[in-house]
Amino acid sequence: MARDKGNNKKLTGRLLDWFDREGRSLPWRTKARRDPYKVWLAEIMLQQTTVMAVIPYFEKFLELYPNVKTLARAPLEEVLKNWAGLGYYARGRNLHKCANIVANDLAGQFPEKEEQLLTLPGIGPYTAAAIAALAFGQPATVVDGNVERVMARLFAVPVPLPGAKSRLHDLAASLTPDDRPGDYAEALMDLGAAVCTPNAPDCPHCPLSGFCRAFKQGLQDTLPRRDKRKARPTRHGVVFWLEDKGRVLVRRRPEKGLLGGMLELPSTPWREGQKQSFHSHAPLDIQWTPVSGEVRHTFTHFHLRLTILTGQGHVKGGSWLKKDQLLAAGFPTVMNKVIARVLETRS
Ligand code: ADE
Repeated sequence: MARDKGNNKKLTGRLLDWFDREGRSLPWRTKARRDPYKVWLAEIMLQQTTVMAVIPYFEKFLELYPNVKTLARAPLEEVLKNWAGLGYYARGRNLHKCANIVANDLAGQFPEKEEQLLTLPGIGPYTAAAIAALAFGQPATVVDGNVERVMARLFAVPVPLPGAKSRLHDLAASLTPDDRPGDYAEALMDLGAAVCTPNAPDCPHCPLSGFCRAFKQGLQDTLPRRDKRKARPTRHGVVFWLEDKGRVLVRRRPEKGLLGGMLELPSTPWREGQKQSFHSHAPLDIQWTPVSGEVRHTFTHFHLRLTILTGQGHVKGGSWLKKDQLLAAGFPTVMNKVIARVLETRS
């Protein structure tokens, strides 16, 4: 069980002292009361991307859209183009939808409570708790993989993940202070990122080592335990680079599903197993030339390997983009890899 309240208070105090000295200085963190728009924007961007990758996007968005109203007024296409590279487009679309609801239906004010935040597009339990705690000082418990790891070690929880999730959440909640819940959440994030790391945790520099049961028992390298994960499957596909007078044929993916609504080069479906025949998916029945090697990309649920075929010719009615404008056109990362590979082989 979690220990007594007095001990929890001491532990949290030690963590907050450490955070005051060692916490990261990040563009969405400000000493004074935080701007809910900035907190929301950062948390949406951070949902599946690292802090380092998010910083330049966050700064660009703040410059282009300094508040929720400017973001809501911006055309969706433009927002998605600026979002490209941050991962799933559904998140960019939800960002814009949420900005519109807040700007138009909620008089520009983000709700303060987790339950209300949860009703907005793109805001799940983690993000709702993070915004409530960081922007509004609510004692919401923010739990991600980092926090789970810290709790599993602090309390030497032997139950493997994902089964241990609710127990780890309860432990994190038992430590959440009423006075600085936002700093507590960010302190745990920073501790998990810099000290209580997945491999080789830096226990000698940990402000909590005196409270840590895993450390006492020498178990820090074995916790948290995990059920053996199902490996990500590998899918294959063939992408077509059809060129005509310095322009390349492109298309837009369906609105629903993976990379919904994003630009792509025409391709076969991406499937597991044996490589498929590409002919029925080729935009033109011509002699195609393979580009050597495969382009690899990993999505949340699968690895992808793409073979590229190039050819010359025209089809009526397609969308064509100038070759030298492709890399700035806002393709998803996987397609930028394909484009870069073809351009590389030509230079
Ligand atoms: N990951 C998710 N939210 C974060 C935040 N506010 N600071 C650092 N890393 C984060």
